[in-house]
Amino acid sequence: MRGRELERLGNRNKSLGDEALLARLEPPPNHSPRGQMLSLSSKASGIAQSEIRVMSIECDRVRGINLAQGICDTEVPEPVQRAAINAIRSGSNSYTRLDGIATLRHAIARKMRDFNHVNVDPDREIVVTAGSTGAFYSACMGLLNPGDEVIVFEPYYGYHVHTLMALDCVPVYVTMHPPKWIFSREQFEHAITPRTRAIILNTPANPSGKVFNREELEFVAGLAIHHDLFVITDEIYEYFVYDDNQHTSPASLPDMAGRTITISGFSKAYSITGWRIGYAVCDRRWAQAIGYFHDLAYICAPSPFQHGATAGLEELAPDFYQSLAAEYCAKRDLLCTTLEQAGLPPSWPQGSYYVLADASGLPGQNSKEKAMYLLAQAGVAAVPGEAFFNGGGRNLLRFCFAKKETDLEEACRRLSRLEISAPTAGSRC
Ligand SMILES: Cc1ncc(COP(=O)(O)O)c(C=O)c1O
Repeated sequence: MRGRELERLGNRNKSLGDEALLARLEPPPNHSPRGQMLSLSSKASGIAQSEIRVMSIECDRVRGINLAQGICDTEVPEPVQRAAINAIRSGSNSYTRLDGIATLRHAIARKMRDFNHVNVDPDREIVVTAGSTGAFYSACMGLLNPGDEVIVFEPYYGYHVHTLMALDCVPVYVTMHPPKWIFSREQFEHAITPRTRAIILNTPANPSGKVFNREELEFVAGLAIHHDLFVITDEIYEYFVYDDNQHTSPASLPDMAGRTITISGFSKAYSITGWRIGYAVCDRRWAQAIGYFHDLAYICAPSPFQHGATAGLEELAPDFYQSLAAEYCAKRDLLCTTLEQAGLPPSWPQGSYYVLADASGLPGQNSKEKAMYLLAQAGVAAVPGEAFFNGGGRNLLRFCFAKKETDLEEACRRLSRLEISAPTAGSRC
């Protein structure tokens, strides 16, 4: 019985380790005074700690270098720090309007016009949120119904899929293929059914590093318009774009602004992942409900940090963002060259700050075992590829290069000492 139950749960969430499964099967025996058994909700019984956190804990235990978690530990820009500190000292510590302070909404509107080529009304079409994660969650709450199908490109960002599942929506996967992470237009068209309500687009993407080009976005937009679908975009890595690739906001394409929820934030560009400041930009018909659900969960985004983000938008010149991209591009080159030489061929990312590498040369039956082997042998933590696929990713590992130079260099020294047999052709996923 127990074996069958484990197997059932294991099939439901293939990215879980056995420990996580066992933890779910043995809830503490909590008896209420009336003798009834307390239990978690049916939704809660399907959750477990993410692979990224599991690897980070394991990495700390063995004092490895953590290239698993996407935490940028680079310096926070001076104007951003200064404005947040001043805001705390001058008493901006209370709740703000539910959609954020006016100066920030106006600064976001200017940035959306100049950088994203999208015109929005700062008073009715922007909701400042608790990180882009708060924006995504609130958008899903405001726009999706239980049972709705939502198209998601895989490899995917786990929070997107798990949020959809928590809301009883059904993710429908369209697979992208390395090294350029191209998808089949036919598969995409077939994925749309009468139950489809939305498409999730993450560009530049985590974990693949894909930057969707204009032609691909026009194809997706054409189908969204034809089938009357929402497009929810996650553009948190919009400033992390390399080589001659260009970030295009789907809402800037003809006839797309009315159906697109553009989500972004400041966690990555300003290295303030713990401040929790993001935003959703969309037509006023949707913004009110998104703001309402965000209010229910968070009331507002942290007040002093809204002032910090405003100063960043108002005071940092375009060359700040250009240097950021150049700095991360150099880090990408260092990590990808090292991975190539170490026998872990990477798909060179066009954007974001992650690399998926082919780990088929490492021993192990699956990506978790390969990640554990790498951590034990080299002292470098990566995320098992299966965390980003609905069934694939067995031979992939994800490395993050948003690290201080010294840490990244040390990780690369360790990786280059590894001895790995050459990966077998075509064994990528
Ligand atoms: C694709 C993607 N979206 C959103 C986030 C989280 O962003 P925020 O800190 O704004 O919630 C991450 C963080 O890793 C991410 O990779």
